[in-house]
Amino acid sequence: DPTVLFTIAGMVPFKPFFVGDEVPPWPRATSVQKCFRTVDIDIIGTTLRHCTFFEMLGNFSFGDYFKTGAIPFAWELVTEVLGIDGDRLWVTVHESDDEAEEIWRDQIGVPAGRIQRLGEDNFWKMGDTGPCGPSSEIFIDKGPAYGADGGPASGGPERFIEIWNLVFMQFNRSADGTTEPLPKPSIDTGAGLERILPVLQGVDSLYDTDLYVPLLDVAQSITGRTYGADERDDVGLRIMADHSRAMAMLVSDGVLPSNEGRGYVLRRIIRRAVRRARQLGVEGPCTERLVDTVVGVLGAAHPALAEQHRLIVDVVGREEEGFLRTLATGTAILEEQLADGTATVPGDVAFRLHDTYGFPVELTVEIAEEAGLPSGVLNVVHGLGPEAGLALVDHPGVDLISFTGSAGTGVPLGVATGLSRPLGHFFDTYITIFWSTPSIALLPLLVVWFGLTLETKLALVFLSAFWPLVINTQVGIQNVDKSYQEVATAF
Ligand code: SER
Repeated sequence: DPTVLFTIAGMVPFKPFFVGDEVPPWPRATSVQKCFRTVDIDIIGTTLRHCTFFEMLGNFSFGDYFKTGAIPFAWELVTEVLGIDGDRLWVTVHESDDEAEEIWRDQIGVPAGRIQRLGEDNFWKMGDTGPCGPSSEIFIDKGPAYGADGGPASGGPERFIEIWNLVFMQFNRSADGTTEPLPKPSIDTGAGLERILPVLQGVDSLYDTDLYVPLLDVAQSITGRTYGADERDDVGLRIMADHSRAMAMLVSDGVLPSNEGRGYVLRRIIRRAVRRARQLGVEGPCTERLVDTVVGVLGAAHPALAEQHRLIVDVVGREEEGFLRTLATGTAILEEQLADGTATVPGDVAFRLHDTYGFPVELTVEIAEEAGLPSGVLNVVHGLGPEAGLALVDHPGVDLISFTGSAGTGVPLGVATGLSRPLGHFFDTYITIFWSTPSIALLPLLVVWFGLTLETKLALVFLSAFWPLVINTQVGIQNVDKSYQEVATAF
């Protein structure tokens, strides 16, 4: 499936059946599917429930049973098979879905007060394209100790935890933005094993389940830190645990580190884990012990993992070694720079480290801070091109920045330079059009052409002939106290 790099949901292998491209060999299915998601990679480790690699459990109907079949199945699974007390469960349905609400209330007997309607949150889609439809979710209430009351719609996110999702697949979204009904309404349900396990094992988080405890144990032993003693350390330990599962699984499924596509994602995962270990005081390689532990925990359920144990250790270990070398080279260059007694790290040095040596910008900031430079003084010098500017601008610690920009990079310079929003927007839109289709951008000028003085006409001809120069005139963004991303988002 070219629309995704990885299997991100249990339904992915069944997509041809949903959209009618292939005839399913069976009208229904259940599965345990290895999945990998990086959409929320930035919050991994900071919550107690997100992970990158997970095992998705699910049942599916390819034009066979629909809502009246799927809802009783889900309830039976959760309350009878898994044995979770129905009185602790809440249900959400899509705001338009009267039928699902009626089934939950009248057929299953869920009290009306524990059924809530949501908009966007109860519409599931695979991505920008592919099968989609309204969904209905089952949540467990962990109790008042975990956050505010109010049910899944408005209560605490660590209190009401989604443990099963039912998607009523009815539409297919195409690349051109149109949505068509599926040949037959279908069912896609599921939840990560890692989400359900804490409930069944009576523990607080996925990190306290027997899938993760051995990994946290080895991460603690590698780093010498104690889990639960310091939140910042805990995030690092959780990332080491999560990412080591992911790297082992990806390699056992045939992904190799590289600079693009899946391989790049694997590279990032390995590097993030190694970086975290380093932040927690580890100087040498550490992935081998992590991978060994993953194989110990998951090897019996995933024989490919056990069979390829050596290969995984080698592939991950080589990547780790390379990255440790990068870290060593970058650190040497940076230390030389800092030894000059400089008050700031020049932007071109930071960019060269990032671009030529693959040395992460946040590490440059961190080392600068450790060397006693005041936080946030990674000063990006004037005259950097947009590529360097963009690579550096969106990093915590990079506050004082100015770079040459052009609309071709998509930077809302007008906004970032502090023009008022409407004016900034106009400026950016105009420059963008000018960049892509100068003739259209020149139309408004032609309209006023005939009322202009000769000098103005000459000035306009001059400007249009030299427009790239004009656009590339350095635009200084001084003392922007918000990061570029914040500015762009606010805008
Ligand atoms: N596809 C839905 C999900 O990933 C239900 O399985 O949540």
